[in-house]
Amino acid sequence: MPDNNFTGPKKAQYVEEMFDRISQRYDLLNTIMSGGRHKRWKEIAAQAVAKDLKGIALDVATGTGDIAFSLAKQPNITKVTGIDFSNSMLIIATQKASEYPKNDIEFTRADALSLPFPDNSFICATTGFSLRNVTDIPTCLSEMARVVKPGGRIAILEFTPLLGTGFFPKLFNIYFHQLVPMIGQLVARDKAAYTYLPDSVERFVTAPELKTLMVDCGLVNVNFRHFGLKTVALHTGEIPTT
Ligand SMILES: C[S@@+](CC[C@H](N)C(=O)[O-])C[C@H]1O[C@@H](n2cnc3c(N)ncnc32)[C@H](O)[C@@H]1O
Repeated sequence: MPDNNFTGPKKAQYVEEMFDRISQRYDLLNTIMSGGRHKRWKEIAAQAVAKDLKGIALDVATGTGDIAFSLAKQPNITKVTGIDFSNSMLIIATQKASEYPKNDIEFTRADALSLPFPDNSFICATTGFSLRNVTDIPTCLSEMARVVKPGGRIAILEFTPLLGTGFFPKLFNIYFHQLVPMIGQLVARDKAAYTYLPDSVERFVTAPELKTLMVDCGLVNVNFRHFGLKTVALHTGEIPTT
């Protein structure tokens, strides 16, 4: 197994440099790897987090901004802020924003573990395919919870380790651990990044464990659902009003 199992600042630097390298091919690879489904999952996440809420939304570790754009489409979302620490990903997000009909989306460079916003700044916050990349999951969740108002919502969209020894987990593991790095090499010329992807999912918490972490950081009504034959999970939770 390649040496991509870092922790702390070394992991943060590895992740930032990796996304800086692959930014140009990131969207295309997502579409190839998910058979085009990732956009739909992101739309469902935006709908779920913003349902019946009115105000400003935050997308943490926004990358090239897909979830931020989905949030901006929600009827009562008045403005969207997307943050990420990869400059190259933010450049693509900003380019996409210039072609977007609404001008109420802004992208800023920031660390998900130390959000540069006062408490209670947003009505909802999302993060997609990012939580397994941060060096401290509870801190990231607490930061998201801190900046969302009481009664607001948080959504986490992320791959989830596929457990079990049946036919599908075996087949998916071959796809994820053998085919995906080859596709990454062919399309993005970066086998290491697309080897890190399945390895980081394997090391990530299960969906019930993530639910517990969300409850531990004070969120209520925490639930999750699966997509993509249980390879992806969408968790939602609310900030208590009292
Ligand atoms: C797999 S991409 C996901 C991008 C986007 N959310 C999506 O769903 O397509 C992970 C993103 O997380 C960002 N990231 C990871 N750790 C971060 C941190 N501590 N602070 C800010 N961004 C971070 C990376 O730069 C990268 O853009």
